[in-house]
Amino acid sequence: MDRWNQKVAIVTGASSGIGAATAKTLVNHGVIVVGIARRLDRLQELTATLGKGKFYPVQCDMRKEEDILKVFQYVEKELGGADILINNAGVFTQMPIIDSPTEEYLKILETNLLGPTICAREFSQSIRKRNVPGHIINISSIAGLFAEAIEIPIGLYGASKYGLRALGTELRHEMMQAKLPIKITNISPGAVRTEIMSRFIMTEDQLKKLNPLEENDIADAVVYALGTPERVEIHEVTVTGKNGAVAVTQE
Ligand SMILES: NC(=O)c1ccc[n+]([C@@H]2O[C@H](COP(=O)([O-])OP(=O)(O)OC[C@H]3O[C@@H](n4cnc5c(N)ncnc54)[C@H](OP(=O)(O)O)[C@@H]3O)[C@@H](O)[C@H]2O)c1
Repeated sequence: MDRWNQKVAIVTGASSGIGAATAKTLVNHGVIVVGIARRLDRLQELTATLGKGKFYPVQCDMRKEEDILKVFQYVEKELGGADILINNAGVFTQMPIIDSPTEEYLKILETNLLGPTICAREFSQSIRKRNVPGHIINISSIAGLFAEAIEIPIGLYGASKYGLRALGTELRHEMMQAKLPIKITNISPGAVRTEIMSRFIMTEDQLKKLNPLEENDIADAVVYALGTPERVEIHEVTVTGKNGAVAVTQE
């Protein structure tokens, strides 16, 4: 991780769960983190814990392009541009597709797929301009790898995460073609104990079978992918609880 010391990371969805844990871990490795989310109070609490000059809180709604553009302008102006992008912000749904209003589709797709795409574009253009190494890490999900295994309703969540993984693959092809020094990693967590989980309606038995991870387990996976030498690119990291089931079946 030494090569990222004093480099700048943008972590989306840094106000709780995996994003907050990743922000803390990166700061502990000497990375300057810009944490973005809608809940500014939560981000400010992190600044108080991690320290000014190490963690920069910026309010941003991933569904609003103007908010995202402002974040990248701010980072460019104040910190000289970002070297790492962690596309982590995400929302979950259990509303069946056949009974959802279109607004529910938009909420999922704009937060989980369109926002990360805009972030990836702005990030890549900044790296191209500065000609420095970069790394994009997309926090996808088991739901974006094995849709067949999750039989309980997850609406468009799985589709958004399949899309996020495909976004990473397409970006990797573009980096190759444009000869841009940006690595792309997709991380697919199984169940992790965070606020999102409390919106996952499951029986106790279903939950127990999943053997949920802690948020730091995913932050560690981020550090693993980032910490590889320049010649190595980790494409996919799948992380589940030890002996935890990947499948959630109807009961
Ligand atoms: N927990 C799991 O079991 C699990 C498993 C696989 C993948 N994941 C993925 O991991 C990522 C992080 O989730 P988590 O488990 O850490 O849940 P979480 O604690 O609920 O965190 C979600 C984060 O996303 C942010 N967010 C949501 N909508 C946003 C918006 N419109 N604009 C900006 N930020 C927004 C939230 O911040 P604000 O509300 O403050 O905006 C929050 O910081 C998600 O992409 C999720 O799909 C989680």
